Amino acid sequence: MTDSKDIKKPWGGRFTEGTDKLVERFTASIHFDKRLFRQDIAGSKAHARMLARQDIISQDEAETIIRGLDEILAEIESGIFVWNETLEDVHMNIENALVERTGEAGKKLHTARSRNDQVATDTRLYLRDAIDRIDALVRGLQASILSQAKRHPDLIIPGYTHLQRAQPVLWAHHMLAYLEMFKRDRERLFDCRKRVNICPLGSAALAGTGLAIDREFVARELGFDGVCANSMDAVADRDFIIEFLAAISLVMAHLSRLAEELILWSTIEFGFIDLPDAFCTGSSIMPQKKNPDIPELIRGKTGRVYGHLMAMFTTIKALPMTYNRDFQEDKEALFDAIDTVSASVEIMAVIVARLVPNERYITRILDKGFLTATDLADYLVKKGLPFRQAHEVVGKIVAHCLARGQEIREMKLDELKTFSNLIEEDVAYVLTIEGSVKSRRSTGGTGPERVAEAIKRAELEMGIKG
Ligand code: ARG
Repeated sequence: MTDSKDIKKPWGGRFTEGTDKLVERFTASIHFDKRLFRQDIAGSKAHARMLARQDIISQDEAETIIRGLDEILAEIESGIFVWNETLEDVHMNIENALVERTGEAGKKLHTARSRNDQVATDTRLYLRDAIDRIDALVRGLQASILSQAKRHPDLIIPGYTHLQRAQPVLWAHHMLAYLEMFKRDRERLFDCRKRVNICPLGSAALAGTGLAIDREFVARELGFDGVCANSMDAVADRDFIIEFLAAISLVMAHLSRLAEELILWSTIEFGFIDLPDAFCTGSSIMPQKKNPDIPELIRGKTGRVYGHLMAMFTTIKALPMTYNRDFQEDKEALFDAIDTVSASVEIMAVIVARLVPNERYITRILDKGFLTATDLADYLVKKGLPFRQAHEVVGKIVAHCLARGQEIREMKLDELKTFSNLIEEDVAYVLTIEGSVKSRRSTGGTGPERVAEAIKRAELEMGIKG
């Protein structure tokens, strides 16, 4: 980054004094908004084409501008372009470079345009592509989850409520719960994209322009679905960023919950999984340690994305119409949130794909914790006992077992009959873990047929061959 004193500010006409160095440093956004260079150049090319079509500039001038912009693009991509802090932001850096190489023609590019509609356009274009990339990453994670569900079709694990053993469920069913969460996340991103992909360009500073521009043409050129209807709203709206941050905050929330389970499951206390070595780190002092840093970091980074959401809400809350420089604060939050969610989803997809449940261990510990107590209550219901009474009977049986340190399954039939004479020989199957899981055939339940259907449905929806 250079800072040459003789660079003229494109807005410098009415100023008699140069900008204070401190001010330059404080207001500059080039070190982060240069990320928008592709979108900025694409927007400028479309704008130049439109200006020529509308006879506002000549065809020759448009071609000169477009050629110049393409050269600048190539220079930026190859890393030889020199960004200048004195020129504040990506828009003025590129425009200045264009004027330097094309002279009069370059000076006409900013006709009927303001940085206010320009920055809104660039941000929307950038975010549109980011949404598409994030959607593809989340889809990849879903594919990992699905493959994990399919790899262990019969594995049963304890299901929890309050982190207390509740009822047995299929490992696949547990995995598919996350599939649903990420499916909704993708729907939210898709929905948000509709409102992102609207073109502000041509709104100029705030009021539109007196020049005969064609906003629809520019929007079509840039792949937008339409134009912002109100020029003031167009330059003052950042709710599309908030909507996006809210959508990815939920992605992070879901990732964080999954991360938390991986962390718990990989403890000796749970012992359900062994995380791949390549995704863990050791301790510099405790030789035995293998720490789940990746899920921990995903969980930690979730707070950071929520923070960006809150920051943006706070930034816009008291802004009068229309553009205010406060908006410049949107980009670092947005970029960091995009980077964070992308990296988190990407790495989680790999971990999930490589996850190996300790099947033998899990199966061994399933008979602890009265996982089939509800099944016993349901059994009594099927024999005519009202559920509340059945609940009471089984509660007493559980208390009896707890006092003796035994499981219901270990009780003699005669003994069980002292709690309810409705209990008969056929209770044995009801008390098995497999019997419990198989019985849960209700829609959305963990019964194996239901889970197999859910996998089929997901494969169909995602276009994955079974
Ligand atoms: N760097 C500015 C931003 O990110 C671009 C728009 C500046 N517009 C202005 N009128 N100062 O918001």
